[in-house]
Amino acid sequence: MRIEIPTNAERFGANLFYPVQKIYELDGGFEVDSAFDNPFHVIQQIPYEQLYGIEKDLAIVIPVKDERLRLLEGVLSGIPHACLPIILSNSKSEPIDRFRMERNMVDTFCRYAKKKYIIAHQRSPELARIFTDGGYRHLLDDDGLVRHGKAEGMLAGIALAHLAGKKYVGFIDSDNFFPGAVYEYVRIFSAGLSQGKSPYSMVRIQWHSKPKIVGSELFFTKWGRVSRITNQYLNLFLSHYTGYETDVLRTGNAGEHALSMPLALSLDYSAGFSVETYHFVSLMEKFGGVLPGPYPEIMKNGVEVFQIESRNPHLHEAAKGDGHIREMIEYSLSVLWHSAICPAALKKEISAELRRQKITGKNREPVKLRQYPVLSGLNFKAAAKTTDWTQFGNFIPQ
Ligand code: GDP
Ligand code: CO
Repeated sequence: MRIEIPTNAERFGANLFYPVQKIYELDGGFEVDSAFDNPFHVIQQIPYEQLYGIEKDLAIVIPVKDERLRLLEGVLSGIPHACLPIILSNSKSEPIDRFRMERNMVDTFCRYAKKKYIIAHQRSPELARIFTDGGYRHLLDDDGLVRHGKAEGMLAGIALAHLAGKKYVGFIDSDNFFPGAVYEYVRIFSAGLSQGKSPYSMVRIQWHSKPKIVGSELFFTKWGRVSRITNQYLNLFLSHYTGYETDVLRTGNAGEHALSMPLALSLDYSAGFSVETYHFVSLMEKFGGVLPGPYPEIMKNGVEVFQIESRNPHLHEAAKGDGHIREMIEYSLSVLWHSAICPAALKKEISAELRRQKITGKNREPVKLRQYPVLSGLNFKAAAKTTDWTQFGNFIPQ
């Protein structure tokens, strides 16, 4: 890949938030190009070996809830062979057992492709057992099963990736129409993570565009309703502490993102669809230096957040309706509002925005979502002892 060099990060405590990087070539060539030896270049070439070096240690978690099988199969076909896909499904098992259909398809696909994979149902006792035996009950409900929700599935995916011995974990939605876009996302993950100088790093994808039909023409929108609002308030949050107005944060709702495992295990998480915005809240709270925190290792090394713009347009299953969009706005803004370090003036502005969007009424606090503490609190050794890998596909950790 040939991609802009990340520079001019906004610093907030130990966090470095890099501006969006642009890709020049998806494939940067086989041989290392000596033209890049000059130190004044703004573009870098990331060689294949470096991408492969990350991908062999990268698990891709694919959250699924009642998506079309063809879409899921397309997503699988776009994931580079070296990566380990982890399909984490919360699909219905009644009246039709959709999970069984997914499992059969994934199994056949991976048998043909000779590919290792992990698959789990979010509500299965085998999955819940990892959290029971590891002494991390926060994720379990009264039935002793992993709670419903996208974030909850993602957390279970991180736990499986860590148990599988992976050093990085990325996320790709299962409702993507273009395998070529999926392929690009993974390459962006490996390119982004390979830039990390600290063991604590994250890559977030900014979509190039989203095609829509307007009238009878295709129109490529840049910003969705949700991300426009989320990013506006995230930047105000950051500006309050740095003292400089900024628009550096562009990926407040990036479902497509990847983290180094040490960082994935050190963040707090928030329920359902608020998880992506909450990454930033957790980073600012824990490593921003405003609140005291017992993280000398992370404060010393720093945390790097890379944002990279994809070249493919993003097209996913869009028939999820206005209700879903309003819920996303509500969740994204409420995690900012409820942050212990959210400035009072910003709380006021967020409340006004939620009223403008007709989401909350006057004098009502935004919804407070469930939060999950760091996954490093899970006893992985204990969980590993009792994990039966034959329940989860064809992957057996070394
Ligand atoms: P949007 O793309 O942000 O509008 O949201 P989607 O409804 O497409 O959800 C994003 C991804 O998460 C899709 O792949 C869904 O199938 C998946 N998903 C949604 N809810 C859940 C859930 O409760 N558990 C799991 N495991 N996946 C979910
Ligand atoms: Co979607």
